[in-house]
Amino acid sequence: MTKIKNDLLLRALKGENVERPPVWMMRQAGRFLPDFRKLREKHSFFERCETPELATEITIMPVNQVGVDAAIIFSDILVIPQALGVEVQMIPGTGPFIPNPIRTMEQVQAIPDIDVKDRLSYVYEALKMTKSALNNEVPLIGFAGSPWTVFCYMVEGKGSKTFDQAKAFCYTQPEAAHLLLEKITNATIAYLKEKAASGADVLQVFDSWGGLLSPMDYETFSLQYIRRIVDEIHSHAPVIVFAKGCWFALEEMSTMPVSALGVDWTITPQLAREFTHNKITLQGNFDPARLLSPIPEIERLAKQMVDDFGTSKYIANLGHGILPNVPVDHAQAFINAIKNYS
Ligand code: CP3
Repeated sequence: MTKIKNDLLLRALKGENVERPPVWMMRQAGRFLPDFRKLREKHSFFERCETPELATEITIMPVNQVGVDAAIIFSDILVIPQALGVEVQMIPGTGPFIPNPIRTMEQVQAIPDIDVKDRLSYVYEALKMTKSALNNEVPLIGFAGSPWTVFCYMVEGKGSKTFDQAKAFCYTQPEAAHLLLEKITNATIAYLKEKAASGADVLQVFDSWGGLLSPMDYETFSLQYIRRIVDEIHSHAPVIVFAKGCWFALEEMSTMPVSALGVDWTITPQLAREFTHNKITLQGNFDPARLLSPIPEIERLAKQMVDDFGTSKYIANLGHGILPNVPVDHAQAFINAIKNYS
């Protein structure tokens, strides 16, 4: 494999010494950049995902425009339910909508064993095209949702603050819930392996809704499946697991063969280091809404964040996805503050 010129992220994932921490922002590909908004007027969401040229263009935008140290492929976690034969719509201004959510054992059993390689070929095409467009300047991150987070949408049928119908499905029909989680897990493993084979240098698993579960239920309905994925894929590419709201599981998660763990802004860097015994690379955790602060404040807080995490075994990032209403110069100030850290 050809060497990547800016390999700060890859070195931080190995725990090697770096001149400064690498920085990228979750959901950087398509949300806050004006050029992305323009593309959105011309092409529907899934058209953007399924057209490799468009996905490539969107993926490299933040690399060229704000100078992040990594690209993350433009796609969505909900391509997995689509590949499993579940219709997913993306309603502008609202978010995902699944007209026929999964609510019964019969529906779960009817989900076919699919060939992820064939069904999601457009994602692999996008990765290959992006890889070539990046010209080895920065690493490319591929991702998937955790089985639990994907399950939340498949069962609830839409976004939710509580995902109570998804949780009720787990608590009233545990056998069906586990069968569905297993089907998602198997598809996700094959999908991430193929992403690595198509050029993804790093793989991130987003467990955006893990924090809705109690610690006990988290192990039962989420972490055991993430563990299975990590066990299967870590030899294909370095893995980052980001489980939002799951500080209680950090110690346990640090025993998996992951290269880094993501943390959100509700935990201090000091506590996150303590829970992971200073052993593992951590990624995070700037409050995304803090990018709405005045720029001098962003600079001060970003510097404080690196002071607190330390410069080694650390990847600077937000504690969740960038908000669509963040001004570009504020995002730029955050990136620059990390790059100029001394
Ligand atoms: O990091 C990146 O920028 C790469 C692209 C990316 C998208 N979705 C594009 C997208 C990534 C990494 C995701 C992951 C994703 N999708 C997650 C996990 C991360 C997180 O934020 O918690 C989740 C929960 C989803 C599901 C999803 N997709 C929701 C809830 C929504 C609507 C709200 C919104 O705007 O994010 C989407 C749509 C979506 N996915 C958009 C984008 C750019 C916006 C819709 C559009 O552009 O038309």
